[in-house]
Amino acid sequence: MTAQPTIEIIDVAPRDGFQAVKTAIPTAQKIAVAKALMDARFKRLEVGAFVSPKAIPQMADTPDVHAALAPLQKHRGLRLSTLVPNALGARNALNAGINDLVFVLSASESHNQSNVKRSVAQSLGELAEIVEMGRQVTGFKLRVNIATVFDCPFEGRVGEPVVLAVIEQCLKMALPMEFGLCDTTGRAFPDQVRAFCGNVITKHRSNPAIRWAFHGHDTYGLGVANALYAYQAGIRIFDAAAAGLGGCPFAPGASGNTASEDLVFTFENMGIGTGIDLPKLLDATVLIAALAGVDMGGHVRSLARTRVCN
Ligand code: COA
Ligand code: ZN
Repeated sequence: MTAQPTIEIIDVAPRDGFQAVKTAIPTAQKIAVAKALMDARFKRLEVGAFVSPKAIPQMADTPDVHAALAPLQKHRGLRLSTLVPNALGARNALNAGINDLVFVLSASESHNQSNVKRSVAQSLGELAEIVEMGRQVTGFKLRVNIATVFDCPFEGRVGEPVVLAVIEQCLKMALPMEFGLCDTTGRAFPDQVRAFCGNVITKHRSNPAIRWAFHGHDTYGLGVANALYAYQAGIRIFDAAAAGLGGCPFAPGASGNTASEDLVFTFENMGIGTGIDLPKLLDATVLIAALAGVDMGGHVRSLARTRVCN
């Protein structure tokens, strides 16, 4: 492993990963997986979602998972975030003492309707409410995940001007934000990723309050390639999921996130430090593999450790 981490990988298996699992995962096992990921030295985890339990029953125990992990957060300098789809979710999360929020809206109208049952304009209105709530909270941190940046399961390719316009609307709210540029379907292509990420970073280069992250899925086997092209464009924060879990239940045809271990393996062997302990991350994937009903992806996990960890 290289000494200095130059990129940050956020493991989203406890949210994007688990939300796609139909069989209820016991809370204790969710906590055990998150702890194993902490042992692998992830500094940021997306731990769950304050969503309607009718929409995603798997996320209903998010407050319990957070409560169990929160004491560790203070000691290890960790950031544990949670996804919120609307202002009610944000209010509930803040009331539970969680101030690191990931708000999601889509660039395309039809996926936003399918995912959160709102128009994009309505979601932007809820984001404005969340921003106002956040101004009252010490240490408030906001990630805005823009879904379907590259491709929508209903509308196909989403044009760059459409995405840029949504980002502009968010920026009018004038709070420091990290944007997650999400390839929700995994149907982005590397050249498209590099071009869009490069353009958006260049356009907003003078605004120090913005950070950019790339959130990729590996549906077409392009997850690692897309992350590398995003890196070339200047992205330094990546979402990925241990064991390649994941997938939006409201995006037909989408499958798992790019596997964290595949990203760590690739970046580290290119001399780009991740700060992650790969053998310990592989231990976490073993815990995940033991869960009922999981649909895993990725490559490195299935290979002999002597081949990938030396
Ligand atoms: N958390 C918990 N409950 C919520 C909620 C939230 N964030 N938002 C709404 N609800 C509840 C309401 O209280 C209401 O409950 P009731 O039926 O007992 O009165 C019910 O859900 C309907 O409220 P409404 O505002 O009409 O929501 P909706 O039915 O239009 O659903 C969402 C909208 C966003 C809440 C719902 O579609 C959702 O949670 N989707 C999940 C999106 C997601 O996580 N996608 C994958 C990640 S990208
Ligand atoms: Zn995703």
